[in-house]
Amino acid sequence: MTAQQTKRIYIHDVAVRDGFQIEPDFIPTGQKIELIDALGKTGLAKIEVTSFTSPKAIPALADAEDVMNGIERAPGVIYTVLVPNMRGAHRALRCGADELNLVMSVSETHNLTNLRMQREQSFAQLAEVIDYAQNSKVALNVSLSCSFGCPMEGKVAMEEVFRWVKRFIALGVHGITLCDTTGMAYPSQVKQICAAFRRQWPRTELTLHFHNTRGMGLANVLAAIDAGVDRFDASLGGLGGCPYAPGATGNICTEDLTHMLALMDYDTGVNLDALLDCSRRLPSILGHDVPGQVMKAGKVSDLHPRPDWFDEVAERARQKAQGVSALS
Ligand code: COA
Ligand code: ZN
Repeated sequence: MTAQQTKRIYIHDVAVRDGFQIEPDFIPTGQKIELIDALGKTGLAKIEVTSFTSPKAIPALADAEDVMNGIERAPGVIYTVLVPNMRGAHRALRCGADELNLVMSVSETHNLTNLRMQREQSFAQLAEVIDYAQNSKVALNVSLSCSFGCPMEGKVAMEEVFRWVKRFIALGVHGITLCDTTGMAYPSQVKQICAAFRRQWPRTELTLHFHNTRGMGLANVLAAIDAGVDRFDASLGGLGGCPYAPGATGNICTEDLTHMLALMDYDTGVNLDALLDCSRRLPSILGHDVPGQVMKAGKVSDLHPRPDWFDEVAERARQKAQGVSALS
């Protein structure tokens, strides 16, 4: 067996946060809880349950406490929540989140649009959260939006991204997520940034968060794996998108990712059939179609029956072939 065949890849589902945050109709709390509980039984490493943001900024997730308090915690699954400030951290800790996923953008323009603060103001608030939370046993991850480009500013230099990574690692966070908020990342760029990250910070848990806005999502995953990355955010059904990033669309799709990695003999620990059962519930929960492809096409191993007329055509072809060989 090659090293690749046994490699473990950790999948984090973010659909109920990144996906549900942009749904125009409020999804009833009970339906969110049912879906999270079903996802908890699929073998996912982590589930991003909700965000403790301002209900004015993200009304779709205004029921964060009720969702966190209503779910059943599956053993072995990390239940993480998105937090933009101290107020969010207090709320999350009261609900017993396993991890705080602290968020800011490496783009000044996107940070102002999304979080209504300058980057330095965000950093100061998050530094305060880290200081406060470090004495509890909650894990601390930082998600850096627009790490592969900003839809309003354009390119973001790798050095600029790493400047923020370095500052957060110095504060003692255990993990960093590089987010491609609007699907601007491409494979050669991903490989370069991930390889440089791994060289500089080999012990920090690194997660990649890709959106499939321009169809490069799964190609970016493979480029990241090549550079030594083993953790990915993805979204059931391919839902997702930041309401304050122009042009944002869905994340890479969790079941499409799991399906591809299973074919390539990676060990994700995820039961693909159970995951597909979850994603097939989405259209009725949301009242619209979702981008996921495997849920519609089926797995490559789901074969179709031959058409009714197949035997007749095969017999005719056999007779023709015999006739040709008799003549020759
Ligand atoms: N949870 C609940 N309410 C919060 C809150 C939190 N974490 N942070 C702030 N608020 C409330 C304040 O109490 C205030 O309420 P009031 O108007 O009733 O007094 C209101 O929200 C505005 O607070 P303020 O501190 O002035 O924040 P702001 O308007 O500058 O917004 C954020 C800053 C970060 C709170 C807001 O932009 C936000 O939540 N953004 C999240 C964006 C997001 O999740 N994007 C997608 C994921 S990347
Ligand atoms: Zn996202």
